[in-house]
Amino acid sequence: MDLLKNRVAVITGGTGALGRAVSERFLEEGARIAVPWIVEAEVPLFNNRIGSRFGMSSVFLSKVNLGEEEQIARFVDETVRQMSRIDILVNLVGGFWGGKTIAETTLAEWQAMFDLNLKPTFLCCRAIVPIMQKNKYGRIVSVSSRTGLTGAGEFAAYAVAKGAIKTFTASLAEEVLADNILVNAIAPSTIDTEANRKSMPNAKHENWVKPEDIARTIAYLCSEQNQVTSGAVIPVYGRA
Ligand SMILES: NC(=O)c1ccc[n+]([C@@H]2O[C@H](COP(=O)([O-])OP(=O)(O)OC[C@H]3O[C@@H](n4cnc5c(N)ncnc54)[C@H](OP(=O)(O)O)[C@@H]3O)[C@@H](O)[C@H]2O)c1
Repeated sequence: MDLLKNRVAVITGGTGALGRAVSERFLEEGARIAVPWIVEAEVPLFNNRIGSRFGMSSVFLSKVNLGEEEQIARFVDETVRQMSRIDILVNLVGGFWGGKTIAETTLAEWQAMFDLNLKPTFLCCRAIVPIMQKNKYGRIVSVSSRTGLTGAGEFAAYAVAKGAIKTFTASLAEEVLADNILVNAIAPSTIDTEANRKSMPNAKHENWVKPEDIARTIAYLCSEQNQVTSGAVIPVYGRA
């Protein structure tokens, strides 16, 4: 349970469905975590699950819009001030939209998928990589998706944005390998979340990948146990 002992991790989307499981796993593994949030409603959910079990002394929560460069810069500065450094970045912010063909998709809808799934990952990496380079240590994990690797009709904007996470990951991995920074992504299929159960009540939920199982994979990729895997996109599909 000490995989991430004394490490400091920024977990974007850490109050979301997958994010709560990742935050919990990181605390279990001994990390201190900084979690930006944007929607107030998720904070009590996070506090109930995390605060009641671990207390909040190893957690820095802060309201941040990760689409805004200045807000990210302030959050990163404050994290370093409070926690002294950043060793790990987990980019979980993203979201799903589709149901329209490419011919029906507006430019605004297309752009919105890139703003949600790609921009925060780019901006957070850009802000935090120089800190890792100075320390000659870093682990970064971002989230692609199975659809991002295969493509899918009527989901092109989402699929292309998630597919771009793969090439972003490979590109950054190459740039920072010499600095002892390993950069990977995971590609989930449908995750067993409350939101997915609500929108697909008749699906075989037992086959969906569990957030806790994905969290274990991310923790490994972010640990010192991982010495050689970089530039990879790891499928986390469950049995679906
Ligand atoms: N769920 C799935 O089946 C599935 C499958 C494949 C890949 N993924 C990917 O896995 C990741 C986590 O998914 P999830 O189901 O846990 O989604 P989620 O519950 O919506 O978590 C995403 C989190 O990011 C936050 N966020 C969005 N925009 C933000 C911004 N500008 N600044 C700061 N925070 C922002 C969200 O806040 P809001 O609540 O305001 O949106 C939410 O807390 C996403 O990248 C998703 O695309 C999910």
